[in-house]
Amino acid sequence: MQEKHYPCPAFPHFIHGADYNPEQWIHDKSIWDKDMELMREANCNEMSVGIFSWSMLEPREGEYDFSFLDEIIEKIHQNGGKVILATPSGARPHWMADKYPEVLRVDSFGRRAGFGGRHNHCFTSPVYREKVRQMNMRLAQRYGKHPAVIAWHISNEYSGDCRCEYCKNAFRDFLRAKFDDNIDNLNRAYWTTFWSHTYDSFDQIDPPGPGAETGIHGLNLDWHRFVTHQTMDFIENEVAPIREYSPDLPVTINMMFEFYELNYHKVADVIDIASWDSYPEWHNGDDADIAQKTAFWHDLYRCLKQKPFLLMESTPSGVNWKPYNKPKRPRLDVLSSLQAVAHGSDSVQYFQWRKSRGSSEKFHGAVVGHDGTSDTRVFKSVQRTGGILKEIDEIAGTMTDAKAAVIFDWENMWALDDCQGYANAGKKYFETCYAYHKQFWQRGIDCDVISPAADLSKYKIVVAPMLYLADDGVIDNLSAFVEKGGTLYATYMLGTVDENDLCRLGGIPGGKLKQVFGLMAEEIDVLYPAEVQHAEFDGNIYEIVDYTEVLRLASAEPMAIYADEWYAKTPCVTVNRYGKGKAIYQACRDRGELATAVFDKVLEEIGLTSLLLDPLPHGVTAHSRTDGEHLYLFVENYSRENLAVVLKAPMYNLVTGQTEQTLALGHYGFGIYRSID
Ligand code: GAL
Ligand code: ZN
Repeated sequence: MQEKHYPCPAFPHFIHGADYNPEQWIHDKSIWDKDMELMREANCNEMSVGIFSWSMLEPREGEYDFSFLDEIIEKIHQNGGKVILATPSGARPHWMADKYPEVLRVDSFGRRAGFGGRHNHCFTSPVYREKVRQMNMRLAQRYGKHPAVIAWHISNEYSGDCRCEYCKNAFRDFLRAKFDDNIDNLNRAYWTTFWSHTYDSFDQIDPPGPGAETGIHGLNLDWHRFVTHQTMDFIENEVAPIREYSPDLPVTINMMFEFYELNYHKVADVIDIASWDSYPEWHNGDDADIAQKTAFWHDLYRCLKQKPFLLMESTPSGVNWKPYNKPKRPRLDVLSSLQAVAHGSDSVQYFQWRKSRGSSEKFHGAVVGHDGTSDTRVFKSVQRTGGILKEIDEIAGTMTDAKAAVIFDWENMWALDDCQGYANAGKKYFETCYAYHKQFWQRGIDCDVISPAADLSKYKIVVAPMLYLADDGVIDNLSAFVEKGGTLYATYMLGTVDENDLCRLGGIPGGKLKQVFGLMAEEIDVLYPAEVQHAEFDGNIYEIVDYTEVLRLASAEPMAIYADEWYAKTPCVTVNRYGKGKAIYQACRDRGELATAVFDKVLEEIGLTSLLLDPLPHGVTAHSRTDGEHLYLFVENYSRENLAVVLKAPMYNLVTGQTEQTLALGHYGFGIYRSID
């Protein structure tokens, strides 16, 4: 049996809890006592506290008062619960902004924000960094060894940027370091002779944005990189006192869905465990599609550390910030929580425990509503989820052993979206990555979502959708994967630009990838939104949209051909043998059916099969976890139909205690199994 990898080793179990803001109820502590009772009743064993507590903990500069936190942590502890303790830097007290305006952000027009909101500090300000360090040191000294505290929740949902003088100078230093303090290097990399934008010195460089430079793509890309770098630097400053005074507890930051601004693949280096806040728009369309997109992010967060992660926030019903705030339907509430666990989460946590009475989140879903009781549908669903987590606790700490992976890369996305060309109305990078991830989801095959620089050696197949930017290291990584026997499936635009967003000379796919795929893409046709063309594969016709690259084959063989336009009968899907592996190229965007047909063939060839007996009914999927000895299987039904599926062999149902091979899945139903020796 493998060692288990518990995200919070001090609590080797599934975590079931919520963001808890007891400071909002400090005027009536009978609520706190009621909360403790209700937490036990809801099968909750954890609360995340202190996220927005700064003005309670330091009401006046240098005057610290931890009595509220002492009391609430002790209460949770006495109640048998655990605590994930936050640092409060996500929002700051008024006095700080008044006395030190530098803690507030400056936008690209040079305007400094007023006090208000949250998640809006300057990430360079020495004063803010020092205030945070002082606070975190005291928190870590005081609670770092408390028996109830099991992890640190650093700040809240880091995002955004700042363009104050401190940040500008830090950006210039970042560029000096990158370009060996040589402005000619920067000018060459940024192609600044274009429009006479040559820089004479690093001091001339401002962060790009409206009101400043926006047309230098290398600069735009480096600004994104700097924002990631500076946020990481800020996190390291937050974490330093915690590492010193609370060395045994892991730190995490809560990350987000479809998050654009930070390269989480890099940010993962400064945290111990990955966690994220999941708020899909359930029931707005086909729940199977929504589940699959959500699954993509679960898979990505698991892969950040290649270990179990935490679902840090989710709503038990609806949120308050979408155009339409629909609650989750009965049963989907439980299923959507268990989905995270199926993909490797060791927790189900909610925002929020108790619904606030005032301000913007007063109608956000919560475990305990304004009625204050446990006699609600939502409370009972949460209680049920907690009960199930207890039944399946042996799965905590187990891993996912995927043999397939889809590459997703933030730098690629930034460069693609910045480029003027193709369809400027939107490149649809997220959607394209989701579409290929769906190839595995709809078949019930575990899939990782990884960075292009990840170790690829464990995979049988890797998909690289729209990987327009590829640095030399990535090109080598992909090429070596195929050479050693892997199957690489890539699409149009592959390796078009290098790490500075300069077009690679010699054609597409960039560099050595031309040999790997045995072809060159000579042109790309961009289709208008209403245009639909066709491809022919194995005697069937499929619809294609948006992009059609026209290929010139060298060693590659055609698998599918275009059926329309001046490039009719020329190849649109190809395969090339390279080293011990295969490189498949899909030169056009399809609506899913063409890729499905090609994947059927490719997956059969490499022997990658579903966890269930396929074909799976629409809306049904399966995922697995393993401790090296047992296989744990999760079967999930996101359709509103009652369906039945057949397992490959009889398995032990951890929730019902029965051994079974045919599973009757009610609508939004699930099954959780352990293999039988
Ligand atoms: C999260 C945030 C929480 C809460 C929640 C509401 O993004 O971290 O504090 O605002 O959204 O859905
Ligand atoms: Zn700043």
